[in-house]
Amino acid sequence: MHRYQLPGIAVGVIENAIGTFSLPLGLGLNLQVNGRDYIVPMVVEEPSVVAAVSFAAKIAREGGGFHAEADDPVMIGQVQVTGYGDPTEASRKLTARKEELLALANSFHPAMIARGGGARDIEARLLPAPEGARGEPILVVHLYIDTQEAMGANLINTMCEGIAPLVEQITGGRVFLRILSNLADRRLARASCRIPVEVLADFNLPGGAIAEGIVQASRFAQADPYRAATHNKGIMNGIDAVAIATGQDWRAIEAGAHAFACRDGQYRPLSTWTLEEGHLVGRIELPLALGTVGGPIKVHSAVQAAMKVLRVSSARELSMVMAAVGLSQNFAAVRALGSVGIQRGHMALHARCVAVTAGARGLLVEKVANALVSAGQVKVEKAREILAAMMGEGEPAT
Ligand code: MEV
Repeated sequence: MHRYQLPGIAVGVIENAIGTFSLPLGLGLNLQVNGRDYIVPMVVEEPSVVAAVSFAAKIAREGGGFHAEADDPVMIGQVQVTGYGDPTEASRKLTARKEELLALANSFHPAMIARGGGARDIEARLLPAPEGARGEPILVVHLYIDTQEAMGANLINTMCEGIAPLVEQITGGRVFLRILSNLADRRLARASCRIPVEVLADFNLPGGAIAEGIVQASRFAQADPYRAATHNKGIMNGIDAVAIATGQDWRAIEAGAHAFACRDGQYRPLSTWTLEEGHLVGRIELPLALGTVGGPIKVHSAVQAAMKVLRVSSARELSMVMAAVGLSQNFAAVRALGSVGIQRGHMALHARCVAVTAGARGLLVEKVANALVSAGQVKVEKAREILAAMMGEGEPAT
């Protein structure tokens, strides 16, 4: 009976839970950020993501690893006001009562103040009505909150709901939405690397040719949202994998990253690659609303283990590591795409999956995968044939 019992945590976490669902947990290696080495736990189902990060991080080490920095953990809460009368006057009144609004917001979370965080600033924003000139401009109060080690969603929402009655009293209007913004652009993380061009030589190509392919990939993504979406998907392959392993709200991270990618009106890549004085220079910047407390972090044993492996001491440090992982993943993708193509490496790793689908287990997975690649046919039927032949020759089934 025991094996049919649900882990108590799952039942307590979501509604109608019927079980838990496993994904592979791997370790990204070789990552060096600001002179510190990290072993990076990554949860992902796609072959090649962990290998790509580890490979890229090894190359980046040749240029001193990654340099990274991150803003203070300031999140944005939004309070939408309607029926306020004169827009300029309503904004002015809100700004004039800023200190009172901040004190009220902070009264809802004294523990956060004790930890050095809390509501820091307020801004009244006026946005054009979507219906055009005859509609009421959208008045939004932005509450800027330092959430310290928390991602902060609950705290932000509580503060936004808490100040709403005072916002209505000040403006004479009516408040509708009171919720955090996932476009956490006050909480950006940045990472960069500077790789000597000569260390890029591979596939019988000189380093300069590989660098050229990477720079062309960067230009393509800058110019074209269709390419930028795929470029950023590759970045998020790495970032999401660390986010899941460390118990983050990865949908919030995804929403923030893609909204940030559109900040100048066109969807653009989150990273760029340029050639500078004989070096390939990669840069990435994106919002990363992370926490080292709250959410599943204190209840999920695998998340706790992952945090122990990663050994970050703050959400800021975690965001720097994640930015470097995103840039690593992106480097590996554009390096292959700009030279020999992605399929060569992908198919070799995909072959393992095909071997497992065909029934191979244990050491046989690698053997069948190698045989598939040598045969140039990474197909389940072929894998079954190879597996049957190997087992006919007396290979143990696992
Ligand atoms: C696949 O999961 C990710 C890539 O498409 C990223 C890219 O094209 O840059 C390889």
